[in-house]
Amino acid sequence: MTAALPKAELHCHIEGAAPPRLVRQLAARNGIALHANLFDGDDRFAWRDFSGFLDAYDRASACIRTADDYRDIMYNYLADCAREGAVYVEVFSSPDHAATTGIGYADHLRGLAAGIDAAAAEFGIVSRIIVTCVRHLGPERALDVARAMLAEPHPYVVGFGMGGDEQRYRPADFAPAFRLVADAGYPCTVHAGEMAGPDSVREALAALPVSRIGHGVRASEDTRLLDEIARRSIVLEVCPGSNLALGVYADTAAHPFLRLREAGCRVTLNSDDPPFFGTSIGKEYADAASRFGMGEADLLHITRTAIAGSFADTATKNRLLARIAKQLDEFTSPTATSLSDQSKRRPLS
Ligand code: HPA
Ligand code: ZN
Repeated sequence: MTAALPKAELHCHIEGAAPPRLVRQLAARNGIALHANLFDGDDRFAWRDFSGFLDAYDRASACIRTADDYRDIMYNYLADCAREGAVYVEVFSSPDHAATTGIGYADHLRGLAAGIDAAAAEFGIVSRIIVTCVRHLGPERALDVARAMLAEPHPYVVGFGMGGDEQRYRPADFAPAFRLVADAGYPCTVHAGEMAGPDSVREALAALPVSRIGHGVRASEDTRLLDEIARRSIVLEVCPGSNLALGVYADTAAHPFLRLREAGCRVTLNSDDPPFFGTSIGKEYADAASRFGMGEADLLHITRTAIAGSFADTATKNRLLARIAKQLDEFTSPTATSLSDQSKRRPLS
C-alpha cells in the first residue's frame, strides 16, 4: 500500500547507512581487516546495546578511507531510498568520523556531493547534508566542526546537528558551536529524548537554537513539554524502528508515535542507521501503516511535514511541496482513487 507513496527523510547517519556488503567491499578495496566482532553469524552488524551500537558504528566507519568511499555509500543509500519512493533525503555526515581515517573536511563533502549528484541524475532524488558533531567527543570538538563548516561552505550543506551519547555533557555545553552556525544563518537539529528522558529535550530546547529534535520521543512523558514542542512547531525526527531495535520501547504498542501526533507535534518518519536497525525509509512508512494505522493521506502529510521542516533552500522545498500538494489534492478529491490504485495506472513521478 505504501510503496508508491512519495517519502521524505530527515534523519539518517551516512556512516551508518552502508550495509554489511558495502562495508566488506570498502574494507577489501582499502586493504584493511574488518574488526573481528563487527558482524554476527547472519552477516548483520553485531551489537547489544546503545554503547555497543556506537562501537559497531565506529568500526564500520573505520572502513571509509576516501572521498570515493563516501560517494559510493551516499549513492548506494540514495538509490535504495529512491527505489522505495523517497523524493527527498537529508543525511547527517560526521567530519569527525571522516577525520579518524584521514579524510579532510573538503574531501568528505566532495565525496558525498558526488554521490548526491549521481543519484539525482539517475533517479531524480533530491538530497542535502547536515553536518553533525559527536556529543561524547565534547564541546571543543563540536566547535571545531562548526568552524570547519563555516570556513568551507558547500551548497549541499544546509544545517548543523549533533548525535552521539546523550548521557554525556549537557546541551548548554554545546551552545557555542550551535550559536556560531546559527548566527551564520544555518538551521539546527539535535539528538535528544532518545537515550535520556524529557529533561534532555527540555534543556536542548532551552539552550540550543534548534527547530528540530532528533528522536524526541521521550518528550511524550511530559505533557507540558509536548505543549511547548507543538506551540514552537518543533519538528520531531521520529525513528520508530531504531527505537525498537535499541530497546527504547519494548514494542510498537509502547511507542509514543501516535501520542506525539495527537499532542499536535510535527512528526516525521526516519530510518536513523538502517542496516544496523534492520530498517529503511520504505519500511518505516509501511510499518507506520500496518502498526500505527496510518492511512495514505496521513503518510502523505508526514512527507509534507518532513519537506516543510527540512533545511533545504526555499525554492527546492517549494518545488517538492508543490508536488506533494498536487497528490494530496488528487487524493482528497471526491473522485479520488487510492494512491496504490493510481500507481497501477501511472507512475508517480
Ligand atoms: N543516536 C545517537 N547518535 C547516533 C545515532 C543514534 O541513533 N546514530 C549514529 N549516531
Ligand atoms: Zn540518529
